[in-house]
Amino acid sequence: MNKLVFEKHVKGSNSFTLPPCDISEESVSQCIPELFLRREDTALPELSEVEAVRHFTNLSKRAYGVDNGFYPLGSCTMKYSPKINEWAARLPGLAGLHPYQPEDTVQGALQLYYEMQEMLSEITGMDGFSLQPAAGAHGEMTGIMAIKAYHQHRQDNKRTKMMVPDSAHGTNPATANVVGYDVIEVKSNQRGLVDLDDLRAKMNDEIAGLMLTNPNTLGLFEEDIREIAAIVHDGGGLLYYDGANLNGIVGVARPGDMGFDVVHVNLHKTFSTPHGGGGPGSGPVGVKSILLDFLPIPLVIKKGDQYEFDYERPLSIGKVRNFYGNFGVIVKAYAYIKSLGGTGLKEACEHAVLNANYLRHQLREDYNIAMDVLCKHEFVINSKKQAANGITTMDIAKRLIDYGYHPPTVYFPMIVSEAMMIEPTETESKDRLDEFVQTMHNIAEEAANDPDLVIHAPHNAVIKRVDEVTAARKPIVKWER
Ligand SMILES: Cc1ncc(COP(=O)(O)O)c(C=O)c1O
Repeated sequence: MNKLVFEKHVKGSNSFTLPPCDISEESVSQCIPELFLRREDTALPELSEVEAVRHFTNLSKRAYGVDNGFYPLGSCTMKYSPKINEWAARLPGLAGLHPYQPEDTVQGALQLYYEMQEMLSEITGMDGFSLQPAAGAHGEMTGIMAIKAYHQHRQDNKRTKMMVPDSAHGTNPATANVVGYDVIEVKSNQRGLVDLDDLRAKMNDEIAGLMLTNPNTLGLFEEDIREIAAIVHDGGGLLYYDGANLNGIVGVARPGDMGFDVVHVNLHKTFSTPHGGGGPGSGPVGVKSILLDFLPIPLVIKKGDQYEFDYERPLSIGKVRNFYGNFGVIVKAYAYIKSLGGTGLKEACEHAVLNANYLRHQLREDYNIAMDVLCKHEFVINSKKQAANGITTMDIAKRLIDYGYHPPTVYFPMIVSEAMMIEPTETESKDRLDEFVQTMHNIAEEAANDPDLVIHAPHNAVIKRVDEVTAARKPIVKWER
């Protein structure tokens, strides 16, 4: 039943007719060095057409996406991807372009690219944007490289440390480390916000900056953000905005106005492009004017009514990706921003916040809420009320699979024990939220009356409990005969 396509192979079953090859063997050997010419057939499985179609159709039914149902994966903003985005990205004049085409033949694409740089600057309050990075984490790396280049250009070489709050996503300390900084952790206070005293105590002339997510990973707005910015700037550091949670403030507040110097935005979160199986994503990076010179090359600029790539940027950190970024993803996000407009983006944000607060209220009878105060687009619960019956957050998450849900993010943020992070997004209706509340209520009742049912979940999934550590550390991703 769970056979791999290779195990379904039946020799001779894939009878097909290919059109005659119009390239001679001689010209192939002229173009491809001898060394790379294949001598044997590749070991591809042979299946009849109907078996191949069934295989892939059945596989597709096992995948769970936001087009199947509710996907409240905290910190990931799994909002619906409007199909108009796909239409735009498939327009032949955009999808059929080649990155090596001369600039005068791709003016429309360059205009779109330029306008996207401008729109993201407007939305975030920055002075310029690079659309090159391919994901949020890649954007972080680009932004922190720009900060490093800035300090080095000023000969301020003493700054070898980057501050990161204890509530941060793992990519933040990882990024700081990859770019060559030592990580200094800043504590959260009782209210789940940056502890100002700790920040003040740790700020000194060895600190290059602070990476901050706002709203933070508890879904809480850092209300002392101006004070935080002043502490970092007065100490000579720069403030980095991790834009993974931009959906909680987009159209309402701008990181640039709060004092942030660099931001990344995840187009596959706030701007509705699909997350895909790990990609392709897009994590554009925006900066204030003091950092403009350090952005990756090329940027798209406008001269008169012509658009062109600008490579004349001697202080640039260089390229962080081949060509110009994931262009198709940029087109999808462009379509989203244009179709919503400023008012639509603000409305989307307000609904995301309303939905999160509605769920928080509805779940508080059955579950412990980590910080039971007004949140932005997400909030964190845990299994404290169920712990006496031996139930963990993982059990609740697994039981949700039986009810047909993709479970929320679990065991993050790490400052909350047994955390479950719920982000409904604005694209869910009240009916859908109420169904989820009812399901969570059912699970709480099961946990109280029949704990084994929850502890041994999932019962309906193809794969039951897996050894998560082995699956993460030693994944078997290759079929071998
Ligand atoms: C707070 C936060 N920062 C950074 C990232 C990294 O973004 P990406 O997955 O696009 O690399 C994530 C991803 O979920 C996140 O939640």
